[in-house]
Amino acid sequence: MTTTTPLSPLDADGVAAAVEEALAAVTAATTLEELKTARLAHTGDRAPLTLANREIGRLAPKDKATAGRLLGQARGRLQQAIAARQAELEAEEEERRLREETVDVTLPVDRRPRGARHPLEILQEEVGDFFVAMGWEIAEGPEVEHEWLNFDALNHGPDHPARQMADTFYVRGTAERETPGLVLRTHTSPVQARTLLERDLPVYIACPGKVFRNDALDATHTPVFHQVEGLAVDRGLTMAHLKGTLDHFARAMFGPEARTRLRPSFFPFTEPSAEMDLWFPQKKGGAGWIEWGGCGMVDPQVLVAAGIDPDEYTGFAFGMGLERTLMLRHGIADMHDIVEGDMRFSRQFGTTGKGN
Ligand code: PHE
Repeated sequence: MTTTTPLSPLDADGVAAAVEEALAAVTAATTLEELKTARLAHTGDRAPLTLANREIGRLAPKDKATAGRLLGQARGRLQQAIAARQAELEAEEEERRLREETVDVTLPVDRRPRGARHPLEILQEEVGDFFVAMGWEIAEGPEVEHEWLNFDALNHGPDHPARQMADTFYVRGTAERETPGLVLRTHTSPVQARTLLERDLPVYIACPGKVFRNDALDATHTPVFHQVEGLAVDRGLTMAHLKGTLDHFARAMFGPEARTRLRPSFFPFTEPSAEMDLWFPQKKGGAGWIEWGGCGMVDPQVLVAAGIDPDEYTGFAFGMGLERTLMLRHGIADMHDIVEGDMRFSRQFGTTGKGN
């Protein structure tokens, strides 16, 4: 604090008193702001010790050294005390900030439920990527399909049992027959017929999509499910190309050890036709073959119906269920889990299907 009578640079008691006063102010400062005020008051331009120091120049030469030492020590002590208090207050300040800004990681955070991608969506994307990587194209068709494309164009005769209402959902009946029938497509194979009618040869297409059958929901069936259809029509295609494609696809879905086996079977639109089995090490009761889908060489009748010369072109086709693929791949025992849409189920597959 400024005193009314200026302090003489030779007044040892006065200097000591000024130092005591200054030290008391420094100790009393409890914040950096208060310390700054005390520092300016006691070491600033107008502080008694500063003013006294300035007077030294005017002293008689013999007194200069004494006064210099006296004030030098006094001001030195004061600077030290200020620096020490500064360090103390800064440490306190930092500690306080750390304490106040602590994040309690155990507190509940954003609890708004987030959605989850359905594993079937992810699988369809993965399947699409697989075929696109081979240079195939993705084809699509409507879920409400002409009865003609779902059955007739695929060589199903008018009395084929699959046409019965016990198997097929009719959107517009055929009883009257004067209007063309509409069905919920029972397989993705009508996309084969559409593709052959619409695209130029050669074609290599895959079609993942929804299909419908008049089945009750149980552990292994659902009336709405998904298939992926594959179709290749080109010059010189044989069953070896079919088998190679299926093995490659199986490995992409199930890992490098996967392989497939073909068993003679029948589909109206392929000849020869085969059931395709997958070697399945995790099969209940021991490793073995397990049915994965159907396939065959495109029936020449189907090519002819699309205006393609079967002597010049051959093709192969296959189709498999995606729910089944998902269940086999991830050991899902009950179809209900896939159908019910519980996010606790879906979340396990992450956003890429591989659990991340
Ligand atoms: N569409 C047949 C089914 O749903 C599967 C299949 C597709 C068979 C292509 C042969 C060729 O069962």
